[in-house]
Amino acid sequence: MANRILVFYGSYRSDRNGIRLADYAVRTLQSRGVEAELIDAKQIDLPMLDRMYKEYPTGEAPEAMETLAGKIREADGFVFVTGEYNWGMQPGLKNLTDYFLEEWFWRPAGIVSYSAGRLGGARAGLLWHGTLAEMGMVVISSSVAVGQITKTLDADGHPSGEAGLSLEKSFARFADDLTWWTEAARQQRQRTPPPF
Ligand SMILES: Cc1cc2nc3c(=O)[nH]c(=O)nc-3n(C[C@H](O)[C@H](O)[C@H](O)COP(=O)(O)O)c2cc1C
Repeated sequence: MANRILVFYGSYRSDRNGIRLADYAVRTLQSRGVEAELIDAKQIDLPMLDRMYKEYPTGEAPEAMETLAGKIREADGFVFVTGEYNWGMQPGLKNLTDYFLEEWFWRPAGIVSYSAGRLGGARAGLLWHGTLAEMGMVVISSSVAVGQITKTLDADGHPSGEAGLSLEKSFARFADDLTWWTEAARQQRQRTPPPF
């Protein structure tokens, strides 16, 4: 049975670059036999949070929110492709994740950060670590930090040069780690229903 992994990305900028990395992550996971799907916050475009998904009476949440809730519940694991704005998280992705809570529980998540600079969005990645743990995910210890995003991946999301080679190596290890935890969590959910 293939692992189902959702890859989240949340820049709303017209000239956004992180989509290269999100596409790369989806494509690379798919090439490893994963059922990977991109969840693009800009494309779903939920408004600034008013009511969380669970605050709607059953069946009355807006369609895009209901569809996404179903996908999150069905997933075996998550990847968060996170850029960095002023040492912080990108608001579009944070807004989307805050709509949900229990839907995230009992699955692993991995963080893939990026930036235009050399630190690869590591400061935003660190913030996401605490947030994803608070939302009931088990954050794996492997992470990927991609600096100089436009030099590392070309406009079609293909690795280029030395930096691209380095990404391919680090992403392979990250994907191995995520796959191991994804399968471990799925087996445990089947063996023992989650306690709450
Ligand atoms: C509002 C804003 C703030 C930024 N702050 C940071 C920052 O704190 N650290 C950093 O490394 N890059 C920063 N950058 C540069 C981004 O890493 C770069 O623009 C990246 O491509 C943004 O992701 P996106 O293109 O997917 O929106 C910032 C960019 C913007 C637009």
